[in-house]
Amino acid sequence: MTPHSSVTHRSQLVAHPFFFAAAILFVLQVVFGLIIAAQFVWPTFLMDTLPFNFGRASHLNLMTFWLLLGIMGASYYLVADETDTEIFSVPLAWANLVVLLTACAGALSAYWFGHFARGKPFTEAPMPWPLLIALGVVLFLINIFVTLFRAKRRSAITFTLAFGMVGLALVYLLSLPIHRNLTVDYYWWWWIIHLWVEGTWEIIAAAIMAWLLVKLADADRSRLAKWLYAEVALVLFTGIIGIGHHYYWIGTPRYWLLWGALFSAFEPVPIVLMVWDTFAHMKRRHPEPVNNVTWYWLGGSAVGHVVGAGVWGFAMTLPQVNKWTHGTQVTASHGHFAFFGAFAMLVIAAVYYVVPRLRGMERFGQQRAMWSFWLMCIGMLAMVTAFTIAGVVQTYLVRLLGMDFITVRTQYVSFWIFWVWAAGLVVFLPGVLLFLWDFLAGKPADQAPALTPA
Ligand code: HEM
Ligand code: HEM
Ligand SMILES: [Fe+2]
Repeated sequence: MTPHSSVTHRSQLVAHPFFFAAAILFVLQVVFGLIIAAQFVWPTFLMDTLPFNFGRASHLNLMTFWLLLGIMGASYYLVADETDTEIFSVPLAWANLVVLLTACAGALSAYWFGHFARGKPFTEAPMPWPLLIALGVVLFLINIFVTLFRAKRRSAITFTLAFGMVGLALVYLLSLPIHRNLTVDYYWWWWIIHLWVEGTWEIIAAAIMAWLLVKLADADRSRLAKWLYAEVALVLFTGIIGIGHHYYWIGTPRYWLLWGALFSAFEPVPIVLMVWDTFAHMKRRHPEPVNNVTWYWLGGSAVGHVVGAGVWGFAMTLPQVNKWTHGTQVTASHGHFAFFGAFAMLVIAAVYYVVPRLRGMERFGQQRAMWSFWLMCIGMLAMVTAFTIAGVVQTYLVRLLGMDFITVRTQYVSFWIFWVWAAGLVVFLPGVLLFLWDFLAGKPADQAPALTPA
């Protein structure tokens, strides 16, 4: 942290270590992604030192942790800004960060030693690490809520954010117990996977997006609040019962085929609203090129969200399609597109708005950041394309022609995953490294004078 920050409340500086930790875990996530993609293509690559199940679980868990830490960092800055008060306790925020980082390290070491809590992706961490994750989230919630209760000024944005955060914590707790019956176990597991990304995270994302629009485009608050509540209501209405699109084939009653299809088919509606709102504001933004990079990440996130989650998700949400594509590389293509578009890009947008301010600048120089933006976007699009083709080939050969799964996996799918790997290594990874470099060494843009120190 530098003494030359331009924050209005000193406690906002605590966002900095959160973003720093997020940036480092992001790089690690991508390194693990490259290792497991290489193992798809060359199965013996690092087989004994870093087995595939360890690498995959680490890739997924690191993603969840860095996105959560990024959201928390943005929230600390945002809540102080919106309420115009200091955050209740900076030491508590540090404790929140240290507990979560310990949980992350603990979970990854458990996988390293081969300890997994059942094979349920994203939630493999065995005890006691889930308890530590829950503790980290609770510390965060206490800090945010005490700040909000003590503040005189609250807004639709802080209310929505807090609502999303409480939902996130509750859903996490519900899915923690392990049930002996596999169907029951997976029934609850989807509460965290689906209700996080298509419920609570979606609500949190809407709040952060709305706040950035206020900051960057002087969005009209009362109009924005109406949009925000409409989006949240629609997310909950379509998303909660939309969970049925994961209940088609796990042994749950047949009626989920209808309910899942019906409700999840409307899930893209609030996402489209969110994008519409963002671009409407973008047109009205300040005419001077203030912080263009943040706008690129924000606009990119809106597009990535609607295409990756809305279009790719919709494409396989009807049971008539899903019965062919379920659990293939088509799912992996959607997983990458949606997580990157909806959440990763939004967290990076927040980083490019907040971090320069923490260091006393209005914005960083734009050139390196733009390179990083385009490299990551092109890299991700190439990976998503290759995953999609791999999935379509796999669906056709395994599910339609009835070819052996392993034959297809090793002889046909691995060819397309090679392109995932190549695009990841040559295009996406340099983009992420440039982002880290910019994060560590970003200098003010020439045209934008440094802000006066607070
Ligand atoms: C930001 C929002 C979203 C994110 C981050 C996301 C992410 C994911 C991920 C990671 C999976 C794979 C889970 C697994 O099997 O391990 C998945 C599956 C799925 N998603 Fe999404 N998703 C989002 C939104 C949507 C939307 C809006 C729809 C539908 C309109 C959708 C439809 C589906 C379906 C049907 C599956 C199951 C695929 C299968 O059967 O293999 N998703 N999603
Ligand atoms: C160089 C970059 C990357 C490479 C090479 C890569 C590669 C992979 C591979 C090989 C898998 C396993 C697929 C399977 O088991 O079928 C995977 C899973 C996954 N990755 Fe990545 N990845 C990269 C970056 C990312 C990024 C940036 C994100 C999101 C921010 C992400 C999110 C995911 C998700 C959500 C899954 C699970 C998908 C599912 O359950 O179907 N990855 N990745
Ligand atoms: Fe879902």
